[in-house]
Amino acid sequence: MRRPVLAANWKMHMTAGETVALAKKILPCQERAGEADIVICPPFTSLAPACSVFQGTGLQVGAQNMHWEDSGAFTGEISAPMLKEIGCTHVIIGHSERRQLFGETDAAINCKLKAALRHGLIPIFCLGETLEQREAGTTQEVCAHQLEQGLAGIQSGDLAKTIIAYEPVWAIGTGRTASPEDAQAVISFIRRELGKKHSHFADQVRILYGGSVKPENIDGLMAQQDIDGALVGGASLDADSFSKIVNYGGAEQ
Ligand code: 13P
Repeated sequence: MRRPVLAANWKMHMTAGETVALAKKILPCQERAGEADIVICPPFTSLAPACSVFQGTGLQVGAQNMHWEDSGAFTGEISAPMLKEIGCTHVIIGHSERRQLFGETDAAINCKLKAALRHGLIPIFCLGETLEQREAGTTQEVCAHQLEQGLAGIQSGDLAKTIIAYEPVWAIGTGRTASPEDAQAVISFIRRELGKKHSHFADQVRILYGGSVKPENIDGLMAQQDIDGALVGGASLDADSFSKIVNYGGAEQ
């Protein structure tokens, strides 16, 4: 049985002050932390304030990116030890916005994944196809390629700790969610691909769906056999929506 993960990607939203206010509003989500991992990923300047509000609650904090070196002349970058020191447990790696808008390559993503694992941060490794690629019928090929390049050289034990998020680019911020069946089809394909190299571990890896997840569609997604949770963008900026997503399946608010 894989433990569900409900993760919030706040992207470039929420000042430190706004973070404290929203974090306090979602504190009741801690009641679900016994059964699921709940991870909030605010911008860098909001990480420490979020860690302090969530301390001792079971709600966890992740960054949205990091550099692969521990320190050095890398102006504007943040390292894994810096994230660990303030209490982060997770880090999103390879989000499509970083790939598309900031030129992040599979090779860089691979270095970041290894660095996160080396420092005991749980990576949430994102991959997914664009609309063009889906329409060209290359979804599986694209996902298999991103998976293989991103995970190159990562051992099975580390893979088991890694969370994968399948985020079709055409479903991000568009209101156009993949149907639960379409998401299940790609996610089960990803699990089968993992099984080729890591046969005993593929069943342990948590694979999330991301892309226009809302209170209205979370139940259908979570009912799928291979979908272990969600990486939520827009709907995670609203305490009520995010709480409903965390309490999917009709759990008490
Ligand atoms: P939306 O939920 O806003 O579509 O964003 C998804 C996402 O990119 C999460 O990482």
